[in-house]
Amino acid sequence: MFRVSFLFIILGFTCISCKSEDKNKVVDSEKNIETLLNERYNKLLSYNIDSTAFPRSYSLEKKQIKKVPSKDWTSGFFAGNLWQIYKLTGNKAFKQRAKQWTAFIEKEKFNGKTHDMGFKVFCSFGNGLDIEGDNQTYKDIIITSANTLITRYNPHIKSIRSWDFNKDKWQFPVIIDNMMNLELLFEATKISGDSTYHNIAVNHANTTLKNHFRPDGSTWHVLDYDTISGQVRGRVTHQGISDDSAWARGQGWAINGYTMVYRYTKDKAYLDRAIATANYFINHKNLPEDGIPYWDFSHPDIPNISRDVSAGAIVASGLVELYKYTKNEAYINYSKKVVYSIKNKNYILPESIEAPFVLNHSFGDWSKRDEMDEPIVYGDYYFLQTLLRLQSLNTN
Ligand code: GLY
Repeated sequence: MFRVSFLFIILGFTCISCKSEDKNKVVDSEKNIETLLNERYNKLLSYNIDSTAFPRSYSLEKKQIKKVPSKDWTSGFFAGNLWQIYKLTGNKAFKQRAKQWTAFIEKEKFNGKTHDMGFKVFCSFGNGLDIEGDNQTYKDIIITSANTLITRYNPHIKSIRSWDFNKDKWQFPVIIDNMMNLELLFEATKISGDSTYHNIAVNHANTTLKNHFRPDGSTWHVLDYDTISGQVRGRVTHQGISDDSAWARGQGWAINGYTMVYRYTKDKAYLDRAIATANYFINHKNLPEDGIPYWDFSHPDIPNISRDVSAGAIVASGLVELYKYTKNEAYINYSKKVVYSIKNKNYILPESIEAPFVLNHSFGDWSKRDEMDEPIVYGDYYFLQTLLRLQSLNTN
């Protein structure tokens, strides 16, 4: 699955020198990787500014950037990456560019056709607010977006509807990914003092906690609820290999999502949920030695399938936070291993690739047979978030 490249030769060499006793060589190899990362970061700055063309992924085969409009679920990650690179480097050019791309997302605050409001608005405006401090415009946009998102809440089911397609198959589909959108609601309550958003987020988290998980700690992808009885009609997959499989990114959304819900609520039930799914993930017999999972833990063709670096990064980021609450070294060790592997084992794109992405080997969507083993914008987002979280752990 891995393409042999010039970069592999460089990083393979630097990886050997990492193990060397020669201290200077270790410093040199780290410098090479940081230089490489900075070169990748600069590709984001040189990407053409266009409010209708958010970079989503890159096809290495077609040598083509996939560009999407702001309504796409991934649109907020590019601005989020720019904000995060600004935090990592202190280079104001990234902040200025982040502001421009963030502004292009604003119209999504009225888009009630999707549950992905958190991914779009919080990854962009949320990161911006964190950096800008008291930015009333950003606060207002987050509140308006939260008001739009809660129009998808069904008080009978006590959940936020995820998707509107496949109406012939599903009455009220809720996907595990939806946990991530709750952060926008928790923050909306913090900003406004109105507990409505927080309460809806808690109800959604409780319904998912009750129904979405298997006894071994893993999660289903899609749950379909009956709109009359409020009961579960079915437990299936959309992006995994089979209904009962453990789709790697879905496990990541659960781990990262419940750790985040614990941050806002301090309810131990959510912490226990995150721990159970994290333990399932990091102890799984099919998790490769370098910590980067195959795209589905239950795929019958392992090891001959693609990895998903985005899933590894989502979990790595979540486990830095889970480590803060549990002090379980296994969690921080996993996060550090993922960062080490990304930096040293051919997951960073070579400089020659002219596309505004940092990492290779994310796995998009099996149901569409799309973006399988490619650079994808959200892989970068959670990798950068992991770096920042590790940095803040070391400095606090
Ligand atoms: N729906 C978000 C994902 O593909 O993970």
